[in-house]
Amino acid sequence: MVGYVLQDHPGHVFDPAVGAGAFLRATKVVANELGQHPALLGAEVDPQALQQATRHGLSRMDLGGVEIRDFMADPPQRHFNAIVANPPYVRHHRLSKGMKERLKIFAARTIGHPLDGRAGLHIYFLLRALQLLNRGGRLAFIMPADTCEGVFAPTLWRWITSRYALEAVVAFTPDASPFPGVDTNALVFFIKNTVPRAHCWWARCTQAGTTALKTWVLSGFPETHGSALSVCRRTVSEGLMTGLSRAPTSRGAGGPCLGDFARVVRGVATGANEFFLLTLEQASTLGIPNAFLRPAIARTRDTGGEEITNGTLRALRRSGRPTVLLALDGRPLEQFPGAVRAYLRHGETEGLPRHALLATRRPWYKMERRVVPPILFSYLGRRNSRFIRNTAGVIPLTGFLCVYPREDTPDFLEKLWAALRHPDTVANLALVGKSYGGGAIKVEPRALERLPLPAAVVSAAGLSAPMRYRQQEFCALVGNEASANVRDRHGKPKVARGRHRVRRLTARCVQDGRRRPW
Ligand SMILES: C[S@@+](CC[C@H](N)C(=O)[O-])C[C@H]1O[C@@H](n2cnc3c(N)ncnc32)[C@H](O)[C@@H]1O
Repeated sequence: MVGYVLQDHPGHVFDPAVGAGAFLRATKVVANELGQHPALLGAEVDPQALQQATRHGLSRMDLGGVEIRDFMADPPQRHFNAIVANPPYVRHHRLSKGMKERLKIFAARTIGHPLDGRAGLHIYFLLRALQLLNRGGRLAFIMPADTCEGVFAPTLWRWITSRYALEAVVAFTPDASPFPGVDTNALVFFIKNTVPRAHCWWARCTQAGTTALKTWVLSGFPETHGSALSVCRRTVSEGLMTGLSRAPTSRGAGGPCLGDFARVVRGVATGANEFFLLTLEQASTLGIPNAFLRPAIARTRDTGGEEITNGTLRALRRSGRPTVLLALDGRPLEQFPGAVRAYLRHGETEGLPRHALLATRRPWYKMERRVVPPILFSYLGRRNSRFIRNTAGVIPLTGFLCVYPREDTPDFLEKLWAALRHPDTVANLALVGKSYGGGAIKVEPRALERLPLPAAVVSAAGLSAPMRYRQQEFCALVGNEASANVRDRHGKPKVARGRHRVRRLTARCVQDGRRRPW
């Protein structure tokens, strides 16, 4: 990274989050190799971190150009030719409300409109650093993969790649992670403040500690395929569509996806599992009638294999795991039987109505409703993101997503299940999920609906999108005249709604880069 920013003899290197000073130390080494003497500049909010930097071999003189300052709230009043950083990776829910608000305003002013609130501090660091990069200057940032996979990523990257030249991106296999043992999938971005380019280099590093990466960067990104580094050239537009954390692919483009066959909804958020999720023994000791209990599953680990059966539930009960959900409706507390009333009063004395999520419910004990999903998806796990057949009829909690087939017949369900458990379908999860360290993938409901189902798998399973659904999509896209005479239950011509749907769907297809109906 330091080699990249030193390429044009910048005269200085600036690190906006110096910390223990790894980049400033590297600058001394690489600059020496290149016969340069750049000034070491930086910002760091925590004076203790600089003490650590001195323990790691930087002298007081080396740190003379480092200022104790908050790079976001009080940025340097100058621009830089060379910026390199491992910015603080602070996720959005750890930012204070006030700080989030200020960052939001900063992003809106910089980009022209706000970034989705799920962007972490590192994203704003990148924006601020780009803002302070001189024309012709170079920037290298190491960032978590959410930089390309978060909801905010398309807005962020459209802005960056329309103003700067994204020269190269480096990804790492789990074995070669620059942060071994940390739950983060890291990427390095090499960006130059020149005219945007249509192509960028994309490399995957497969060997920890290899020198191949440094050689590649210092030689100006040649096309190479060594054992430690595989490199390809891709168009920026394809990179943005696929996600720059993922290798180039044409898999799934324009083909069928899960959303054509099923709807995806997240599992139930109880707001307090320790209160609402019970063992059968607890429920019977409390005297809670069965009518208020639903079989439920909370942890991926509890599912065992690829099917949850009644046998799975029996085994969980034997091992003392909770298997029932207290699923209450919104009737007044006094109208529940005595045992339920007593338990709810106990919950009130424990302060449950003030719990973050429960405080938003009216009444606080009213449980979210879900129809039993015949297929579940366990959405975060190490190597175990997968579909699970739910023959036990359990309601899943938030560790899972609910998959509801669009056609309610056993035949359709079996075909869909065959397609979803196919290894080629499972392999496509990497195309829609967020990647974490160690190969874990997290998939959000809407992203799972975009999961490409390989055409060969779909046809081998004998699956075709439900006729009603295909018809709707077709009508929506062509503005079917026939629907003009159809009235909805309020007596309004359906065509009006149809046209809204045309616009919505067309916008969605354009956004997703999909051609529908397939
Ligand atoms: C991931 S560490 C940087 C590691 C560093 N490159 C190294 O070699 O050790 C992030 C650093 O950013 C600092 N930091 C956090 N918020 C900051 C801010 N607003 N302005 C400047 N530095 C900040 C933290 O104190 C921390 O030392």
